[in-house]
Amino acid sequence: MTKPHAIVILTGAGISAESGIDTFRGGGGLWEQHRVEDVATPEAFARDPELVLRFYDMRRAAIQTKASNAAHVALGRLEREWPKRVPGGEVTVVTQNVDDLHERGGSLNVIHMHGEHLSAWCTACDARHRWTGPLLDRPRCPACGTRALRPDIVWFGEIPYRMDAIQTALAEADLFVSIGTSGAVYPAAGFVRLARELGLQTLELNLERSQGSTWFHETRLGPATELVTNWVDTLLA
Ligand code: APR
Repeated sequence: MTKPHAIVILTGAGISAESGIDTFRGGGGLWEQHRVEDVATPEAFARDPELVLRFYDMRRAAIQTKASNAAHVALGRLEREWPKRVPGGEVTVVTQNVDDLHERGGSLNVIHMHGEHLSAWCTACDARHRWTGPLLDRPRCPACGTRALRPDIVWFGEIPYRMDAIQTALAEADLFVSIGTSGAVYPAAGFVRLARELGLQTLELNLERSQGSTWFHETRLGPATELVTNWVDTLLA
């Protein structure tokens, strides 16, 4: 593999697993006895807003009790150190995760394509507000005051955020790395194919082979805290 300059890193629930946040598929299951369609769709929110808001209030409170792990911290270090090592060195983290553990691990250039727990969205004026408390009591938008806020989460059937920025980052990158994602949910699951079409090198770091594993030039299997730390150490050595 030639030395990369710009790196795009896609992350999924697996990178936060060792911080004590359940993944979606397999294991304890994030959905806490709820079917996905009961809590993670716009239809569910229209049908039973209290159920949905209570669910997300619980998740929002829970992530604030967790800490970033060695894998998040290694990616933060890579983003800081890489531009000093390589001309044009740039690191973009594209995450499907709605926790803030990348930011707490030191990453600044993070695209939250599925939204964020610690953000609330006003569908009237489109303002977004940092939000750490509950939404069940239906607080009004602090900016326009006209409508209650909703979780700033991309539900099933909604369009992920910042797809243009993600495609631009991929078009300008040399290396695509996928960490801790099952490759079950599009469009993120399709990024490796796009990366291949664009001529990027591709690397997968995951506990087990993802659904799109055969698209990667290389797959390394193991826990993210070990694999990501080793990969970053080698790159920066
Ligand atoms: N280290 C590395 N990988 C791990 C670890 C770990 N410690 N623990 C689990 N994994 C891997 C699993 O093997 C699995 O392949 O992480 C992956 C997690 O897959 P999912 O639970 O499907 O999570 P993700 O890919 O992020 O889901 C995508 O689906 O429900 C939606 O919107 C939700 O963003 C989410 C999307």
